[in-house]
Amino acid sequence: MSIMSEASSKTVSTSAPNSPLEISVQEKKVCYQQEQTLLESLEQANVEVHFHCRDGFCGACRVKLNSGEICYPQGEPLAFIGENEILPCCCIPITNISITIDE
Ligand code: FES
Repeated sequence: MSIMSEASSKTVSTSAPNSPLEISVQEKKVCYQQEQTLLESLEQANVEVHFHCRDGFCGACRVKLNSGEICYPQGEPLAFIGENEILPCCCIPITNISITIDE
C-alpha cells in the first residue's frame, strides 16, 4: 500500500524582522543600509541627490516623501522643509519609503 502525501502550501512571510528596508526613488529600488543616513544609502546606490552641509542646516538635500515613514535620530533639523519633504542627510527610514528627487 502506498500513501500519497500532499505538499503543504503554507504561506511564509518573507519580511523577517531584520530584512533591509526598501527605498523607491524614481524607477529605482535601493536597499537601506543600517547605520547610515538615507543620503549615504542613496549615494552608495549611485542615486544623485543634491547636498551641501550634510547636517540638516541648509536644506539643499530636500526630497519629497511620497509614502512611508522616516525619523531624525539627531533631532528635528533646522532647515526649512515643506509638507511631505524630508532631509536625507540626517534622516533614516523606519518603514519602506518612496521618495521623489527634483532635478
Ligand atoms: S545637506 Fe544640508 S540639510 Fe541636508
